[in-house]
Amino acid sequence: MAGLAEPNALVDLRGVSKSFGEGERRVDALVDVSLSLFAGQVVGLIGPSGSGKTTLLNVVGCVTEPSGGWMRLNGEVVYDQRWLRRDLRRLRLEEIGFIFQTHNLLPFLTAAENVMEVMELAGARSAEARARAGDLLDYLQVGRRKNAMPAQLSGGEAQRVAIARALANRPKIILADEPTAPLDSERAGIVMDLLRRIAVDQEATIIVVTHDESIFDRFDSIYHLRDGHLVSIENVKANAHRPIDARRSDETARNAS
Ligand SMILES: Nc1ncnc2c1ncn2[C@@H]1O[C@H](COP(=O)(O)OP(=O)(O)OP(=O)(O)O)[C@@H](O)[C@H]1O
Ligand SMILES: [Mg+2]
Repeated sequence: MAGLAEPNALVDLRGVSKSFGEGERRVDALVDVSLSLFAGQVVGLIGPSGSGKTTLLNVVGCVTEPSGGWMRLNGEVVYDQRWLRRDLRRLRLEEIGFIFQTHNLLPFLTAAENVMEVMELAGARSAEARARAGDLLDYLQVGRRKNAMPAQLSGGEAQRVAIARALANRPKIILADEPTAPLDSERAGIVMDLLRRIAVDQEATIIVVTHDESIFDRFDSIYHLRDGHLVSIENVKANAHRPIDARRSDETARNAS
């Protein structure tokens, strides 16, 4: 299997499948899925309800164990017919950033404390975590709300704090399930532009599950799932496969104009 892999891919799946249940009740949620995603890419994952989008995100996020196949994340083979890592929780904490539809902030912590918490779980010292949380919230333009409680934030602000939380440990793989669902199309566009910038700045790859057609033009490529099969890959941007350095100069030119 490994012979077919893409050496530079951050996310590399070969023949990954996932079934739930047995016998008559068996559901093949993913069937023989292979894909390779690279630093700087932001890809959309679309398909009808029940087509396997969330399952694929959870498999890549090492939340759900596949039924078979091979998966390498950020250079490390983590699954080959079975998990090869024992400490999946640490792997998730260090390599993966999750952004959910509802922001899942802890209601009893401030915006900054929500961001600090995931860094402290990964072993950061409090002062270091506080400084980085402040920087991240500034980067996402919600720095002035850092001492607010989640209930005091607007939907767009809460989503940006949740993105800061997902970025806190500098993951190379960022997974988002309907991140713009609670936002109007203007704010959804702003969040997507932000994700595009993050992918380049952090040399990360971002997978976004969405039904929101207003953001389709923000993706490099769109992956279509149907009944657990990856049926097509549509390149949206002409540079969908350009290497990270070329993308970085594109972004710089775009920001300058
Ligand atoms: N824990 C589970 N146990 C049994 N079946 C499951 C489980 N999780 C998902 N499934 C089934 O696997 C299939 C794919 O589900 P999945 O949640 O990945 O779909 P989806 O594309 O995210 O759908 P939606 O757009 O509705 O969120 C569905 O048939 C679903 O019922
Ligand atoms: Mg889903």
